[in-house]
Amino acid sequence: MNITISDKIKYVGVNDKTLDLFESQYVIPNGVSYNSYIIEDEKTTIMDTVDKRAVSEWIGNVERELKDVKPTYLLVSHLEPDHSAGIEIISEKYPEMKIILSQRAANMLPQFTNKDLSNRLVIVAEGDSIDLGSHKLNFVMAPMVHWPEVMFTYESTEKVLFAADGFGKFGALDTDEDWDCEARRYYFNIVGKYGAQVQAVLKKAATLDIKTICPLHGPILKENLEHYINKYDIWSSYKPEDKGILIAYNSIHGNTKKAVEKLKELLEENKAEKVVLSDLSRDDMAETIEDAFRYDRLIIASPTYDAGLFPTTEKFLRHLKHKNYQNRKVGIVENGSWAPMSGKLMKELLGEMKDITIVEPTVTIKTSMKEETIEKLKELAKAMTC
Ligand code: FEO
Repeated sequence: MNITISDKIKYVGVNDKTLDLFESQYVIPNGVSYNSYIIEDEKTTIMDTVDKRAVSEWIGNVERELKDVKPTYLLVSHLEPDHSAGIEIISEKYPEMKIILSQRAANMLPQFTNKDLSNRLVIVAEGDSIDLGSHKLNFVMAPMVHWPEVMFTYESTEKVLFAADGFGKFGALDTDEDWDCEARRYYFNIVGKYGAQVQAVLKKAATLDIKTICPLHGPILKENLEHYINKYDIWSSYKPEDKGILIAYNSIHGNTKKAVEKLKELLEENKAEKVVLSDLSRDDMAETIEDAFRYDRLIIASPTYDAGLFPTTEKFLRHLKHKNYQNRKVGIVENGSWAPMSGKLMKELLGEMKDITIVEPTVTIKTSMKEETIEKLKELAKAMTC
């Protein structure tokens, strides 16, 4: 795949359109890319490797770009297997090649290879730099974006930020799709828990003059970088990105669904900026999580099930907690034919999250929507839009 970064920085990554679920949980209808780069210089450097599914294609790309040049370094910015599966094979192929990585990565490396590479490591720390000839690598530690050993590298001659998983996106590189949508779904589901750590690295990046961002997944970003950096700033600070209301619901026999469709109508009558419905058992959970973070308000509507929460309602709430959901207004609609419990249980789980304001009234449906339910839905719609 011919992707141009510059005369001296070459793309050698691989598209994967055959993986069923990224990290064994996220659907990727347009695949994913495992990005890797080569900086050609007196000391030629390979920037990261790829997933095991892509190693043989990647080695072919590396050989094609290197021709007869022997790389001086392999840089490892992140050890997760989608980026580290080629370390062993490339180290065997180029026995003189050294490996640049953080101390934490050096400690973890033996878990990711059966080869003893300890005498080939160049361990770098925050603020260190390495001259390659006309290029210079400057290291910026980025712990927990998304693993503890992660580091970003700023190449100061061409002003390129190699950002590990940062600014990554689902979708192979030949996919023509909106960056924000799939980058947001990637961000909140993969990195979302680590907002404070992303904020910390953004502060360091703000001191750099960046012309290009090279992430480990998704497109190379060359224009309008403020747009992407601004999105990352909003997402990592847990601020809502847009005004709107996500209604995430479950409905066993269609009655709760009827109620939330009515609620949507009422919210729109009350001039809600945007109302999005998501079926927690049928729609992509990762997209629902993304929308929960995107909008400033959330309504969860769920039946009671075995005197507890409906399973995918509980899954949704636990995912939200896991990803550090916070700072939002939340309305509750519960359903129960003889002993409605889901409202109480949803509030308990929401109570474990930070800065969640429950908007009253909680609406209770006893099996199906009646006139009195509609009156309560009207009250909730009003409270959610005032
Ligand atoms: Fe793309 Fe955290 O690995």
